[in-house]
Amino acid sequence: MSALLEAKQVSKHFGGLKAVDSVDMTINKGDIFGIIGPNGAGKTTFFNMCSGIYPITSGEIWLDGENITNMHSEVIARKGMARTFQNIQLFKYMSVLENVKIGFHINTKTRLWDSILHSSTYKKDEKLAEEKGLEILERVGLTEFKDTMAGNLSYGVQRRVEIARALALNPKILLIDEPAAGMNPNETKALMEFIKKLNKDGYTIAVIEHDMKFVMNTCNRILVLSFGKKICEGNPEHVKSDKEVNEAYFGKGILVREAGL
Ligand SMILES: Nc1ncnc2c1ncn2[C@@H]1O[C@H](COP(=O)(O)OP(=O)(O)O)[C@@H](O)[C@H]1O
Ligand SMILES: [Mg+2]
Repeated sequence: MSALLEAKQVSKHFGGLKAVDSVDMTINKGDIFGIIGPNGAGKTTFFNMCSGIYPITSGEIWLDGENITNMHSEVIARKGMARTFQNIQLFKYMSVLENVKIGFHINTKTRLWDSILHSSTYKKDEKLAEEKGLEILERVGLTEFKDTMAGNLSYGVQRRVEIARALALNPKILLIDEPAAGMNPNETKALMEFIKKLNKDGYTIAVIEHDMKFVMNTCNRILVLSFGKKICEGNPEHVKSDKEVNEAYFGKGILVREAGL
């Protein structure tokens, strides 16, 4: 097994607040890697550092054997790290296919003038984006929604479209921030299946999630953060039986039992 995304002693300070404090993490190729922890534990901040959105205070981030510490987020995206955000960021008044096509533009040569003048570069890129977009929708089982306006879809389907758009980058790893938040149990179940399928298709996935059932049943490895510090890392059984995790996060075991393991 080889490391795909590594954090080495990574910290982020906001003034006096240590939002993330000396965290080590190794995600291997083929993982569905879960990051859990109470609200404010530093999970999103950690993702923001991995993907180059926040400069890091100290430590290093490595992607597929390359030190990417403090590279620009667009450069990191091109190197193969795609992500989605805690709040859905789709264009509500555009179709599903158009939303997914936007994901390709980081990989095409179209510039502003090309799109205004409808140049041959623009037309070629548009055609390619259309073909690839349809291919991704087919692959992830969303073809039936291709012409639907994104704002008219259920919350659960919107999430999947957002993930499909991230796949347009052809990423080595996909970072997903709290995808099940606000979902009903059926939507959560569909999302779990969706993520497992993407993983079977070869994608390595890192997911921040609050829903214990989701994490325990979907992820093969889990990192637990509390007040910016790593308190545990391991497989679901290991995390479930860790005393500190139970005390810090699970309310002395209540949520672990609810996770149905
Ligand atoms: N841009 C920022 N400026 C100042 N403080 C921030 C910023 N982003 C996050 N924080 C703080 O860092 C801590 C961790 O936040 P966050 O990473 O969003 O937690 P989580 O995603 O685990 O809920 C919180 O105390 C939050 O208020
Ligand atoms: Mg968060």
